[in-house]
Amino acid sequence: MISLDAVKELLEKTQQTQLLRFWDQLGDEERSSFLAQLSTINLKNVNELFGKARDTLRENVVKLDSRMKPVPQELFGAEQKTDDEELDLFRGAGLEEISKGSVAVLLLAGGEGTRLGVSYPKGMYSVDLPSGKTLFQMQAERIRRILTLAKERTGKKGRVCWYIMTSGRTNRITRKYLEANDYFGLDENDVVLFQQGLLPCFDFEGKILLAERNSVALAPDGNGGIYRALDDNRILEDMERRGIKYVHIHSVDNILVKVADPVFIGYCIKKQADCGAKVVSKNGPNEAVGVVCKVDDRFQVVEYSEITEETAKLRDSAGNLTFRAGNICNHFFTTEFLRRIVKQYEPELKLHVAKKKIPYVDESGDTIVPSAPNGIKIEKFVFDVFQFTNKFVIWEVPRFTEFSPLKNIDSVGKDCPSTARRDLLHLHKYYVEKAGGSVGEDVEVEISPLLSYAGENLQTIVKGKSFNSSTVIKSDDECNNTANGHFKHSL
Ligand code: UD1
Repeated sequence: MISLDAVKELLEKTQQTQLLRFWDQLGDEERSSFLAQLSTINLKNVNELFGKARDTLRENVVKLDSRMKPVPQELFGAEQKTDDEELDLFRGAGLEEISKGSVAVLLLAGGEGTRLGVSYPKGMYSVDLPSGKTLFQMQAERIRRILTLAKERTGKKGRVCWYIMTSGRTNRITRKYLEANDYFGLDENDVVLFQQGLLPCFDFEGKILLAERNSVALAPDGNGGIYRALDDNRILEDMERRGIKYVHIHSVDNILVKVADPVFIGYCIKKQADCGAKVVSKNGPNEAVGVVCKVDDRFQVVEYSEITEETAKLRDSAGNLTFRAGNICNHFFTTEFLRRIVKQYEPELKLHVAKKKIPYVDESGDTIVPSAPNGIKIEKFVFDVFQFTNKFVIWEVPRFTEFSPLKNIDSVGKDCPSTARRDLLHLHKYYVEKAGGSVGEDVEVEISPLLSYAGENLQTIVKGKSFNSSTVIKSDDECNNTANGHFKHSL
């Protein structure tokens, strides 16, 4: 732990001595926890960090529109435009690598879920499906199912390590939740939690804010904090030890996410890409998703806040939105590429700066909850490494089978619990009907991920059958093994 003298010296050098304003009034325990927290912050570089952040704020005023180009067609694959034979070729390639143990999933679960307004990690959220399953449970079960599919295809089950990036606020509870639920049937050794870093929050003059008299206001460093965290937590070494070559990275909040998607992974491998992004076609110019495109000949995601309405509305000769490659926070990376980023390019990653209302302790020691933005939070974004690829590809998938994010509370009316629930049940109804069953009006049929990953394996159960009351269609194992059906959904 850093000494008080060392802290004082650093704070004087960086003109951040306000942080020790209440030092004399603190008890021994408060002092040592404060020093412990200060030891985790790179105090030497805080002013440089703020300087860069301030430059970014100024830059943002200039919109990127004139420099944007769509991703070239030859790098733009689409499930809808690929025939079944080729899709199966990609699926086979992905399953082959899964059975060799070369594929890992990296779940981005360090966000604070502010818009959803829950105090616990979003992965623990249940949208009140008939099964009561949470996002974490569904994702874990999709991994279990993909291992079965890999075994059926290749004769070898393989392994998929589930790396979960958490942050200070989500780490302990995520760990406890997964432990309490026996990792939802995954091998405990194949579930690896690690924490992303935190960065101090500044006021507009560059002074670091105090959250309490003995603690700095800190916030997670964005989902692009992953690259620093991979290094700090020696995750790349862990991947190397396990023989992992390909990593599927995705956000926690998409209820339809195809975890370790063999088609996407196989497509990227066949195209010899070191980096890939799964996208959906934007549902209109105003949809709040980033677009994958080129800016000055570099691949990039331009967030919806960074593009003018005029550019967002542009259409090509076929009448489609020119910038329609909607980013769904679902990416493929080779570990070799990740290594290059971590070792070489991480310090070059752009800082994204947001003006926020940050609760703080004022000079008199009172906690102030501001009603207007009073400072900035700094984040890095996971996709800002696209510019460093040797070969980048895009894979477009249908929205209704792959994307329904959980971002907001229900009153917002979109990307919320009721839309996520509706979209999952709508997809499952489609799967049942495709397999020859029928579902009555207002009847809800949910399919366990342990039975079917993407609509396969249903015919023998549903063909010719009418579902007239709501039900969960489960795998044989689930029906027989009550332990699997009794997970604790909360702590
Ligand atoms: C993200 C994408 C956006 C895309 C949208 C689709 C980024 C930066 N933006 O936006 O382009 O159109 O999803 O739904 O990826 N997270 C962390 N640590 C953090 C912050 C976030 O792990 O410090 C995780 C979250 O837990 C979540 C994911 O990153 O799983 C996405 O974060 P979120 O804040 O929801 O991103 P959006 O702004 O919705």
